[in-house]
Amino acid sequence: MLILGIDTSCDDTSVALLRNGKEILSNIVSSQVDLHAVFGGVVPEIASRKHLEFIDIILKEALREGNADPRDLDAISVTAGPGLIGSVLIGLCFAKGLAFSLQKPLIGVNHIEAHAMSIFLERDVDFPFIALVVSGGHTIILRIDEPCTYSVLGTTRDDAAGEAFDKIAKYLAIGYPGGRIIEEYSRKGRKDYVAFPRPMMDDNTCDFSFSGLKTAFVNYVKNNGISEGNMPDILASFQEAVIDVLFLKTFRAIKKTGITRVVVGGGVASNGRLREVFLERGRGEGLDVMFSSPEFCTDNGAMVAMLGYYYLQKGIVSPPDVKGFSRMSLR
Ligand code: KG4
Ligand code: ZN
Repeated sequence: MLILGIDTSCDDTSVALLRNGKEILSNIVSSQVDLHAVFGGVVPEIASRKHLEFIDIILKEALREGNADPRDLDAISVTAGPGLIGSVLIGLCFAKGLAFSLQKPLIGVNHIEAHAMSIFLERDVDFPFIALVVSGGHTIILRIDEPCTYSVLGTTRDDAAGEAFDKIAKYLAIGYPGGRIIEEYSRKGRKDYVAFPRPMMDDNTCDFSFSGLKTAFVNYVKNNGISEGNMPDILASFQEAVIDVLFLKTFRAIKKTGITRVVVGGGVASNGRLREVFLERGRGEGLDVMFSSPEFCTDNGAMVAMLGYYYLQKGIVSPPDVKGFSRMSLR
């Protein structure tokens, strides 16, 4: 079973070739980071233009590396959303054209679900499990009951966690994307230097809010200033607040459901401190915490192909007019 996976949800153009749901024959990721870095964030118009320019080149590269002919494909899986709609539509329309011309099944998948399931590229996990997907566009807690069956337990009411990292880094003009840079600074910093708030901890929900924390950071810097000397301390305190909230809300979902298996995915899950906190505190609470490898935490076509494999196993394919979407419906 050979499945092509296409992801153009944000600023990476990725095409992968997957055999039998697990064996990655190729996983080409073309990053646009350098193009967006000068603006301190993704510029949607530039992102979609670049996807259009590169998608067929990346497809050829994925087929060449995977040593496959398009006619060998059993299905084409593609991100139908959520994401930047202009970017999503480039991959989706390209996949539709490919599926139609090759007369192959088309599977439009949910990018968040693909992040949540990405661990299956490397190992199996018993169902049900809790998945925290934490990326530049999303911070969401899912309950996954079986492949292709999930429900949303919590989501962000405003900014995503990665977005908060990126906006702080932009404010300080220390580079883009902000997450990895802030992690780097934080390694040398004191985590208890500033007592930043832990937003929405007093409610009973699994929802998040990072906008207020971002404002608290900006206000702190405006009132107290920031120097090369204390930048690591202030950033480490900010990072700790974000991670603390992510863990506590995930733990709340665990207590509500009684499910103790947790998978963490999405770009922010490549953060070393986040992994440490989830593993250490998770162990203390008797949880089984699992992460995808960093290369599968960030956007990639392999996770999209893998999710398509599970849908195909269930006989679920998309109609040729499947729609792209920018936001996830919270079912
Ligand atoms: O999953 P992803 O590649 O794309 C989206 O679907 O959004 O995630 C990108 C996000 C960015 O906000 C980036 O700052 C964040 O992941 N990120 C990190 C780290 N590496 C990437 N955040 C914190 N620590 C990191 N090491
Ligand atoms: Zn993503």
